Amino acid sequence: MHNRIESIQSHFTSELTTSSTLADLEIVRIKYLGRQGILVDLMTELKMLSHDDKKIFGPLCNKLKADFQELHQAKLNQLYQEEQNLLAQKAAAFDVSIEKKSLQGSLHPYTHITRELEDIFISMGFAIADGPELETEFHNFTALNIPQDHPARSESDTFWLPDLHRLLRTQTSTVQIRAMKKNTPPIAIACPGRVYRNEATDASHDFMFMQIECLYIDKQASVANLLAVIKEFLQKLFGKELKIRVRPGFFPFVEPGLEVDAECPFCTVGCSTCKHTRWIELMGAGIVHPNVLIHCGIDPKIYTGFAFGSGLTRLAMLKYHISDIRMIHSGKINFLRQF
Ligand code: PHE
Repeated sequence: MHNRIESIQSHFTSELTTSSTLADLEIVRIKYLGRQGILVDLMTELKMLSHDDKKIFGPLCNKLKADFQELHQAKLNQLYQEEQNLLAQKAAAFDVSIEKKSLQGSLHPYTHITRELEDIFISMGFAIADGPELETEFHNFTALNIPQDHPARSESDTFWLPDLHRLLRTQTSTVQIRAMKKNTPPIAIACPGRVYRNEATDASHDFMFMQIECLYIDKQASVANLLAVIKEFLQKLFGKELKIRVRPGFFPFVEPGLEVDAECPFCTVGCSTCKHTRWIELMGAGIVHPNVLIHCGIDPKIYTGFAFGSGLTRLAMLKYHISDIRMIHSGKINFLRQF
C-alpha cells in the first residue's frame, strides 16, 4: 500500500506539472479527484485492509487527498492567471484602426464637382437652391412655356408616374420655377441636381445624369451679364480663361435662346475630348421668356433675367477626364477610389 500511495503521488505531481492549460488540468482532476477517480479507488482498497493497516494508511490517504486538492487549487489559480494575462495581451495588441483603414471610402466625383460648383456660384453671389426630383407637369413643362404637343412630354422621352400625376424631372429648370414662385426679385440661384430622360444608354448618355442650372432675375439683366457670368464660372472651374462661342439655340423658356460652347481646356490643336474641333458644347442659355415670368407671378414689364443650364455630369467628365458616363454611375470601387 505504501508503494501504491507513493506511485500515485509521483504520477499526480508530474501530470500536474505538465498541465499547461485549464483543460489539461481538468483532465488530471477528474482522473485523480473525480467521483470515479484514482483516490476513490484507493479509499475502496483501504476499506479492505486490516484494522491496524487502516490506522496507518487511513490518515495517509486522507492527507494525500487534501494535498492533491491543495496542489490542484494552486495550479488552477496559476493557469487561470496565465490565461487572463494572455487575453489581456491579445486585447492590447488588437489595433482597432486596421480594419477601418482598409475600408475607408472616398468622395464620389459628383460630390467633388457639386461642392466645387456650389463654392464658385456662392462666391459670385448666387444662393444654392434645390427642388424635388419627382415633379409635376406644371413645373417641368407648362410653366417653362413648353407647348402641350412638345415631344419631350411624351412617354418615349420622359419617365411618367401616372398614378401620382408626377414625372421624373427632365431638367433642373424646374427649380427656376419653384424659386420664382417663392421669392420676389432680385433672385440669384444656382441649382445642381439629378435629372432623368427616357433614353438608351451609351458612353455619353444615361437615363439619369446631373445638371446645374443658374437663374438671375432683376430689373435689368442682359445677355452681356449672362455671358460674363458664364465666362467667370468656367474660368473658376477649369482654372484658366476660356474663350466662349455663342450660337442661336431654341429652348421654349428663353428668348433669345443660346447654345454656348467653350474653347477646349485641354488642347490647342484639337484632341479626342473636343473631337478635334477645339470647341466643347457646354450649355443652353438665354433671357427668361416673359411667359415663364407670368407663370411664376413676376411682372415681365418690370423684371427680366437670364438662365443657363449645363450638364454637371459632362462638366465632371471633362474636369476629371472620364471617358464613359457609365463609369460614374457604376459604383465600381476601383474607379471611385481614384477620387
Ligand atoms: N434646361 C435646358 C436643358 O436641359 C438647358 C437650359 C437651361 C437652356 C436654362 C436654357 C436656359 O437642355
